[in-house]
Amino acid sequence: MSSEFTIKRVTAPEIGSRKGGAPIVGLTAYHAHTARIIDPYVDMLLVGDSLGMVMHGYETTVPVPLELMIMHAQAVVRGSTRALVVVDMPFGSYEESPAVAFRNSARVMKETGCGAVKLEGGVHMAETVRYLTERGIPVMGHIGLTPQAVNTIGGFQPRGRFRSEWAAFEADARAVAEAGAFAVVLEALAELLAARITKQIDIPTIGIGASAECDGQVLVLEDMLGLSPRVPKFVKEYAQLGAGIEAAVKSFATDVRTRAFPSAEHTYTMFDDAEGATKKTKMTGS
Ligand code: KIV
Repeated sequence: MSSEFTIKRVTAPEIGSRKGGAPIVGLTAYHAHTARIIDPYVDMLLVGDSLGMVMHGYETTVPVPLELMIMHAQAVVRGSTRALVVVDMPFGSYEESPAVAFRNSARVMKETGCGAVKLEGGVHMAETVRYLTERGIPVMGHIGLTPQAVNTIGGFQPRGRFRSEWAAFEADARAVAEAGAFAVVLEALAELLAARITKQIDIPTIGIGASAECDGQVLVLEDMLGLSPRVPKFVKEYAQLGAGIEAAVKSFATDVRTRAFPSAEHTYTMFDDAEGATKKTKMTGS
């Protein structure tokens, strides 16, 4: 194939091949302008369904429609040239069956030009992950705190802070890895568990409120810029309102690449460790 036909952007297989290598840097982007600013400094732009809460004022990500994800993803692809663009499949667009997931994911890929989709869930979504990846759709998994399940989980609390809960999360990670996901997001998992899962599976783990030992990190851009009204404990704020976005993103990227972020203050200890926290707290707590 002539070089004019090679893909210029970072690809999902390239991210997948970085297991144990240089840490992967990810940030969310919801529109063309911010995508353009942060694209040179990150490996991955995530069009997260958190845009429903951040941009549109929903209380959770549950109401986010597929069409909204497509519109924001089109803007992010137009605004960027090099990072891999990963688009979240919103609640209700993929859970029903692998075939429904394929139809909607293919629509996202065709209409946006993104390079991969992300979907939430572990063991119970493994069949769907396999179905998509075998049919040409790169999938990023997402386990731990899965915000689309907030109504069954009962809140946005960190997960896996009791050792008795570990086996289920480890099985989720193995299931999506074995099903063909090229990477998996570990959200708000106890630090020890996230580090342990990272050692157990052969695809990169991308931490958000997890561990510096993950193979990469992702944050919601507005959280790290200090623009969100209620910021989770795991967020380091890199800029106050009015400070330069570019400088903040550069600092974040350097911290991820040197594993300076996340430090202990941005991760979750165990409830059943002597040195760990002794009472249950919400995401914003310790
Ligand atoms: O929707 C989102 O922004 C995400 C990140 C929190 C990983 O899924």
